[in-house]
This record gives sequence, C-alpha cells and structure tokens, in this order.
Amino acid sequence: MIPDPGQTSPDGATDANAADDRFVTGSRTESDGGEEGLRPTSLSAFVGQRKVCENLAVFVAAARNREEPLDHVLFHGPPGLGKTTLAQIVARELGVGFRATSGPVLVKPGDLAAILTNLQPCDVLFIDEIHRLSPVVEELLYPAMEDFHLDLVIGEGPAARTVRVGLPPFTLVGATTRSGLITRPLRECFGIPLRLQFYEVDELRHIVARGARVLALSLTDDGANEIARRSRGTPRVSVRLLRRVRDFAAVDGTDPVDRAAAGASLTRLEIDDRGLDAMDRRYLQLIAEHFSGGPVGVETLAAALSEQRDTIEEVIEPYLIQQGFLMRTPRGRVLTEQAYGHLGLPVRIPPRQLSLMVDDADDE
Ligand SMILES: Nc1ncnc2c1ncn2[C@@H]1O[C@H](COP(=O)(O)OP(=O)(O)OP(=O)(O)O)[C@@H](O)[C@H]1O
Ligand SMILES: [Mg+2]
Repeated sequence: MIPDPGQTSPDGATDANAADDRFVTGSRTESDGGEEGLRPTSLSAFVGQRKVCENLAVFVAAARNREEPLDHVLFHGPPGLGKTTLAQIVARELGVGFRATSGPVLVKPGDLAAILTNLQPCDVLFIDEIHRLSPVVEELLYPAMEDFHLDLVIGEGPAARTVRVGLPPFTLVGATTRSGLITRPLRECFGIPLRLQFYEVDELRHIVARGARVLALSLTDDGANEIARRSRGTPRVSVRLLRRVRDFAAVDGTDPVDRAAAGASLTRLEIDDRGLDAMDRRYLQLIAEHFSGGPVGVETLAAALSEQRDTIEEVIEPYLIQQGFLMRTPRGRVLTEQAYGHLGLPVRIPPRQLSLMVDDADDE
C-alpha cells in the first residue's frame, strides 16, 4: 500500500529501528498489528497516568463548555506509554475530528498547509515525533498555533510575496519521546505539556487482564501479574508479551495460563524477572566488563553495541535508569550497585563515589 504522504499510521509507526527485533522494546514493531481492539477509547477506560487523565478531563470539559478548541497539548515520554492512544481519546472526548501525521513526513511548508487548511473547526491535529519537524515547517507552525493563520511565501526571489491565510481554530496534539530536542519557541506554543510515566505493575496487570479477555485467552490473576511484572512499565510491551504467551499456550495446550506457564514462556523469550531482555543485559554487561562500570559516553556504547544512539537513549536507557540500574552523569553512563547485583557480578565502584558523580540533568 502506498502511504498518504501527509500521514503516517495513527500509531506514528515510521522507520524501523534496530531494536525492533526485541520483545521488550517500547517502540512499535510490525508484529504489533491489531493493537486497535486493545486500545482504550475513553479517559475513563484508560488505565494508569492518573494525574494526566484527571487534568485532561478537566481541560476537555472546559473547552467543550466554552465551545472553543482545547489548548495545544504536548505528550512526552518513552515509547509505548500511550501518547498516540491519549491523543485519539482527546479528540473523541472533545467530539471532534482527528487527523494524524508525523514530524518526518512534513517536509515542505506546503505539506503542513495542506493539512491545516483542510481541518474542521476545533479538530485535533496529531503530530507524532514532533521533535523531528523540519525548521521551515516549524516556522510555519508558530503563527498557526498562536493566531490560527499561515504566512505562505508565493513565488521566488524579488517577486516573492507573503500571503496570509486564515485557519479554522484547531488543537494541535504533539507527541515526542525526546522533549529535550524540541526547540524552546515550539515548546512554548503548548498550553498543556504532559509527561507520561512508566506504569505500575498493578496498572499493567489490569491492562494485561483486559487484553486477555479481548484475545479470548484464559489467564489467571497471577499469570497476568507475571506478564505485568516483566513488561518494563510499558503497556505496549505488556500487550506484546501477552500475545507471545498466548502463542506458547496455544502450541503447548496450556489452559488456563497461570503464573508458572506465563513465567516459563517469558523465560523462553529471554526476558528476566525484572523485565530486562538479552539486549539490556548486554548493555549493562558491556559497561561492567569493558568500561569498569563507567563513566562511559553514549557514542562509545552505541559503537560497541552496533546500535543507534537514539535507540540507546530512547528505548534502552530510560527503563534501566528508572529501575535504578544506570545513571546518566556529566561524564557518561555509570552502573549502580544494583546493576552489578542483577548481573551477579562483584561491585567495582564504591557506592559513595557513585553518588558524587550523579547529577540530575538527563537529556531533557
Ligand atoms: N493506559 C493504557 N491502557 C491500555 N492499553 C494501553 C494503554 N496505554 C497504551 N496502551 C496500549 O499500548 C500500545 C501502545 O500505545 P501508544 O501507541 O499509544 O503508545 P505511544 O506512547 O504513542 O508510543 P510511541 O512513542 O511508540 O508512538 C497500544 O496497543 C495501546 O493499546
Ligand atoms: Mg505513538
């Protein structure tokens, strides 16, 4: 199928990355297909991200009462936490149309102009990977977001002139895994910036149990808990692991799937009891064994692992940091005592020295 040039799938699935063959990557992969039935469609059905959902519900209700477009919303957080899902829910709850595109496909100003001029009043325009907008398109977006008009340049050279085109009022919902890469002026156009957090195991257990019902898999509570516990705090990973567990159950004839069966399937996928897969362990082991526990720069790690830097920073590291296995310091990545414990290796650096190296500045 030839994709519409102005549009990606609603999931924002664009270029493949090297982490796609992992089961625990939060990034969307081809094998995820059929996510639709599992996607929650209202704020009340959305599990987790309580604060974000409560605040959104208020802003949506206020906009509806005033019959005005909702202020522009920016979702940021690691892949697979529900940014696209929430964007769709916002449009649905507002009772308006939803148009989806993404930063990398909006190459020329005309690409954006074509979409904006075709919106209905108060529609939601979703731009995924908004940190990858080209500068010329971004320039065009500022007045569109702030005053609902476009300044289009017609012609070239001395004959060029600017034409102002009015737009229907709309809500831009942006999503990014790298809020640190969004320019300040663009960031300031968003009245409602919302950060999504990794999910608690309890929340993921709900998501897994609901998914099992949709997929007609009989799964015990502790089976659901086992999948949740190993899902890297990420619903997309939960849903993916659930599908693989279902495959094992179908072939092995397991019914119902309990904790032991779910655990055995996940172990066959090389996912350990903290949700780390072979790639995560390779990453931690590399720092431990070849770089004396760090500090080591991300570029060096990317080269040593033959991975892209982006994949390391967006997909691998956030969960390892959140779990307390890794620290980002001004001089590079450093393993924590807990990481050595998890790998079953003796600690090389005294913990006190580690704490002196920490700073709170991650890349955002
Ligand atoms: N709160 C939730 N409850 C149930 N399922 C969820 C929830 N959040 C996300 N999911 C499921 O996880 C999957 C990924 O969600 P989504 O596509 O919204 O993530 P994303 O943050 O947009 O990821 P990316 O950064 O890769 O674009 C979907 O299948 C969705 O159904
Ligand atoms: Mg998305």
